[in-house]
Amino acid sequence: MKTPQSIGVGLLGLGVVGSGVAQALENHREPLACRVGAPLELRKVLVRDVEKQRPVSLPPHKLTKDAQQVLDDPAVQVVVELMGGESPAGEYIRGALERGKHVVTANKEVMAKDGPELLALADAKRLSLLFEGAVGGAIPIIGSLTKDFLGNQIHSIHAIINGTTNFILTRMAEEGMSGDEALRLAQDLGYAEADPSNDVEGLDAAYKLAILATLAFHSRVSPGEVFREGISRLHARDFRYASELGYAIKLLAIAKRDGAKVEVRVHPALVPEGHLLAKVSGVFNAVEVEGNLLGRTVFHGLGAGREPTTSAVLGDLVEIGRRLVANGEPSRAVQMEESLTVKAMSEVETRCYFRLNVPDRAGVLAQITRVLGDLNISIASIIQKDTDPTTQTAEIVITTHPSKEAAVQRSLALLGELDVVKEVSNMIRIEELPS
Ligand code: NAP
Ligand code: HSE
Repeated sequence: MKTPQSIGVGLLGLGVVGSGVAQALENHREPLACRVGAPLELRKVLVRDVEKQRPVSLPPHKLTKDAQQVLDDPAVQVVVELMGGESPAGEYIRGALERGKHVVTANKEVMAKDGPELLALADAKRLSLLFEGAVGGAIPIIGSLTKDFLGNQIHSIHAIINGTTNFILTRMAEEGMSGDEALRLAQDLGYAEADPSNDVEGLDAAYKLAILATLAFHSRVSPGEVFREGISRLHARDFRYASELGYAIKLLAIAKRDGAKVEVRVHPALVPEGHLLAKVSGVFNAVEVEGNLLGRTVFHGLGAGREPTTSAVLGDLVEIGRRLVANGEPSRAVQMEESLTVKAMSEVETRCYFRLNVPDRAGVLAQITRVLGDLNISIASIIQKDTDPTTQTAEIVITTHPSKEAAVQRSLALLGELDVVKEVSNMIRIEELPS
């Protein structure tokens, strides 16, 4: 095979990330050519609207509304998919591989749902399908799990992998900003998904966790198997009370191996203030991986936005370019030799924080503690917080020792039925992480 004079790139999408990639390919031609060993030539770009004003200016003949013009172009060797969503992006990735083109994508939805099949297709065709931009923005976590950590048995992953929600939670905790206001700001900054409820409801983080768990445990984990709770129930009071108890509140993505089972969940969690994850603020992401040889390693970096994601996409593009220049075979990126089952959430044990609104009178606590005691939920602390003399109500915050989720859910139902409980205002799981 001849060494290519240049490497043709076809781009699907010219939005927040696509325009960053196009700009870098145009503005940093020389250094990229030097690193690859041949220039990366942007040949065609798929968009919905060819007339739209863009932060990057490209010759009009390079823009098209017709995906086939990118996929069928013989001068395109690598297709970079940055459209987002499951369809038609997934079909285009498959179409590119079927036509013998290498693919780079930052699409976590497609990789979480169909990644194993698409990777198998790439393997069969001896092509590369790289997706570093799909998880953690600029953080090189996919490369670490598919290469650097392969000698390990991975025990667990604790991560903050949605920049939008971490940005919102930081603004709520530090500035008392409302969730809606902070979300609008995150959208303006280009962090949020096209449908921001994917961020707020934890779906984006669940896609990313499914990808990480599949790679870490070498066993397929589907996004539908990830237990998921979003951040919309969090109230300013929860941040205040958590802080008084020595915790920050984060949307955590957790994957733990337990024998032949794996626990995968995304939900808000109280994280001890001394732990690194509690200090991750704004759009930053962090991923803590624990393995038998590596011990605990924490990655921290910008998790969303044009530049950090462009960094990850370009890294993949340069890697593929180098292989093409060297006429090298792509290595099999993902092996799934294990067959683990996902633990039912009802079996998972966590500590919990309950916030209850109750009448401020004698005998209330006795009834509440009886419900918890009968379910074998051991109380770690009870604190009476704000009282309201006009309504004669008080807020009670209870923390528990580790308890099974099934018992916790039952207790929420029973507490809600008690006459002495006006409202079960919130329940947040506590993740006790070593500092
Ligand atoms: P975006 O700003 O919404 O851009 C999407 C682009 O795709 C637009 O240029 C749009 O064209 C084009 N497009 C969408 N559907 C199309 C269709 N059916 N036919 C033709 N063109 C279509 O999205 P983004 O934020 O750049 O995200 C792109 C991908 O990267 C997503 O998978 C996202 O999850 C992932 N990602 C994003 C970030 C981030 O911080 N934004 C970080 C990591 C990963 P028009 O411009 O003409 O509408
Ligand atoms: N919407 C995603 C986030 C983009 O906020 O993390 C990065 O994947």
